[in-house]
Amino acid sequence: MANTDVSGYMQDLLVSESLREPVLKTALVSLNLPADSYGLDVGCGLGLVSRLLANMIGIGGHVTGLDANPAFIDKARSLADHTAHKQRITFQAGDASKLPWDDNTFDWAGSVDFVGYGNMNTICFLREMARVVKAGGLVFLMAWSSQVLLPGYPFLEASLNASPAGIAPFSTSMKPVQHFMRGRSWFSQIGIPLAQAQTFAGSVNAPLNSELRKAMISLLQMRWNDNQSGLSSQLREEYRRLCTPESPDFILNLPEYHAFFTYTMVYARVPLD
Ligand SMILES: C[S@@+](CC[C@H](N)C(=O)[O-])C[C@H]1O[C@@H](n2cnc3c(N)ncnc32)[C@H](O)[C@@H]1O
Repeated sequence: MANTDVSGYMQDLLVSESLREPVLKTALVSLNLPADSYGLDVGCGLGLVSRLLANMIGIGGHVTGLDANPAFIDKARSLADHTAHKQRITFQAGDASKLPWDDNTFDWAGSVDFVGYGNMNTICFLREMARVVKAGGLVFLMAWSSQVLLPGYPFLEASLNASPAGIAPFSTSMKPVQHFMRGRSWFSQIGIPLAQAQTFAGSVNAPLNSELRKAMISLLQMRWNDNQSGLSSQLREEYRRLCTPESPDFILNLPEYHAFFTYTMVYARVPLD
């Protein structure tokens, strides 16, 4: 990945935090992670999830964030340095397919918008996560799973969602079982029965503050802009009219704008021996 790509990706991720944080927080709280526990955040990116988790597990706990990209690790460290729980988070560069820890090291491990979210060796990553978690500890995967961002335009939105960008990071060359919504079966494949799944919604309501507006503009571009092959010229035009900030009909300018998106979490406990 070129440096310019890294900084653009980093910027998109940073801008998305105000949008994602409330729903991620709700989902993570629902896990009831034990106070003073030690956990791992795999594919931590800029460390938003690591910071939220560190805040939840209390002053005796500790979160380690792991990411393959050293630039993300540096930035995650500097963002955590400005928080009250900086002593309780460690960031480390490494590969999720070969976690640099012994078996049974952590009380729990999780991953958001990374493991299982795309064309990757999900089973290998999940097996690694389960390996480093103690018997009885929780392993969870979470990912963005749907959205309604264009209220009043269901046909346009459905058409955009059916485009390659709309189904990304899934693709038509992948098997159905590789889709995140089939994540419960991944746990069975690595010998962990009874995985549960739950979906959480985040809401967006006008008036949007400037942070949220920026996040939504970035989301509209990221979600559908790249690849609209297969869309009629009429629908492309409608997309531009509604989703371009300079357009007089920009959808975020609706005084009654309401949208939602969902995060789905799949989780299970490592069996006791
Ligand atoms: C979409 S970001 C999600 C970041 C973070 N979990 C969040 O929700 O804000 C995915 C992250 O996975 C990291 N990643 C990709 N491949 C990886 C690998 N093999 N091992 C560890 N991290 C990896 C990327 O560098 C990136 O930071």
